[in-house]
Amino acid sequence: MPPTYDRISKLLHWLVVALVVTQLITALTWPQYGDESTGRYVLFRIHMISGIAILILMVVRLAWRRSSPWRPLPDDVPTAIKVASRANHVAFYVALILQPLLGLLMISPFGADWLNGAHVILGWTVVVLVVLHVAGALWHGFIRKDQVMQRMLPFTTADR
Ligand code: HEM
Ligand code: HEM
Repeated sequence: MPPTYDRISKLLHWLVVALVVTQLITALTWPQYGDESTGRYVLFRIHMISGIAILILMVVRLAWRRSSPWRPLPDDVPTAIKVASRANHVAFYVALILQPLLGLLMISPFGADWLNGAHVILGWTVVVLVVLHVAGALWHGFIRKDQVMQRMLPFTTADR
């Protein structure tokens, strides 16, 4: 049975999930509001604060990895899937650290159009990563039934 994640890893995982969802909802709804409107202002503020929180939490996660390292997938998972899974996780770390930095640069005196372009592309890349990631989790949970999904769920102890 693969070892479960500890409480802190799970807490950090699910906090970041909630904040990434917040990022997508705010960024995709503020275009409905006028340029100077309160709605747009509030949504953008939320996007900014939640984005900075993601940056901080991802750095904390990196630090936490030192005492709580990556859990290997079960031996009988195909190597290609193992590589893809690891690549998906690394891509999350890179994207979720880079994306708030781009956002901060965009609103700084160094703002430039290409930064906005990069932020939009990376934003959609995150969406693709999430779709692949959730598909992978559900594949483990409901098709392979190998406890890998359970080890990140909040109230389970997959190693028992
Ligand atoms: C991990 C954190 C973040 C994620 C996942 C994220 C995601 C996104 C997404 C999906 C969009 C909409 C792209 C589109 O128009 O199709 C967007 C737009 C934007 N975000 Fe973020 N964002 C993050 C952090 C930040 C931060 C920290 C700031 C500012 C400090 C910021 C500022 C902006 C701005 C100004 C736009 C509008 C860009 C434009 O259309 O020119 N973002 N973001
Ligand atoms: C915004 C959405 C999400 C992000 C950014 C995200 C990010 C990550 C990252 C970076 C890891 C690697 C482990 C670590 O560093 O602690 C991970 C593991 C995991 N995530 Fe997510 N996740 C998201 C949504 C979800 C959802 C919705 C599920 C459940 C359906 C899920 C289930 C899992 C599982 C089961 C693992 C453990 C995989 C393994 O042990 O190999 N994640 N996630």
